[in-house]
Amino acid sequence: MRIGAGASEIGYWVHVEHVGHGLATEATAALARVGFGHLGLRRIEIHCDPHNTASAAIPRKLGFTHKVTIQGCVTTLSMTPCDMMIWTMRREDFATSPGRGTRHRGIRRRRHAVAVPGR
Ligand SMILES: CC(C)(COP(=O)(O)OP(=O)(O)OC[C@H]1O[C@@H](n2cnc3c(N)ncnc32)[C@H](O)[C@@H]1OP(=O)(O)O)[C@@H](O)C(=O)NCCC(=O)NCCS
Repeated sequence: MRIGAGASEIGYWVHVEHVGHGLATEATAALARVGFGHLGLRRIEIHCDPHNTASAAIPRKLGFTHKVTIQGCVTTLSMTPCDMMIWTMRREDFATSPGRGTRHRGIRRRRHAVAVPGR
């Protein structure tokens, strides 16, 4: 999702039957590689709830920088205010980040296990 000139946000959601296999981490690393390497992005952001441990682990592992946690800036469906962490990666930092070297083992391993609609 575009969030300004030369910048995009990555979001993720994995089917409950496939969580915990590294898929979101690998997919995020792959999207960052495409964004910086082919789409000419200068910055990628990941926004997440600080209480969502699995979600926040992904940018942390890939070497994104935690810029800020904004208090009460989003609301749940029941209109309860929630905080939001903003993580960023700049193009110049990606080459030396842990995400640059992420291997896509989980995606390859599970490629045949995940049903793809229409196939
Ligand atoms: C968040 C989500 C995308 C993670 O997907 P995933 O494919 O399971 O993520 P990964 O396997 O790449 O794991 C990410 C890290 O979180 C950790 N993790 C996973 N579940 C966890 C939990 N319940 N508590 C703490 N850490 C957890 C993993 O151990 C992993 O870290 P590690 O490699 O250092 O062990 C998935 O749980 C999901 O779709 N959740 C519902 C939607 C959502 O919350 N999206 C994010 C909105 S901001």
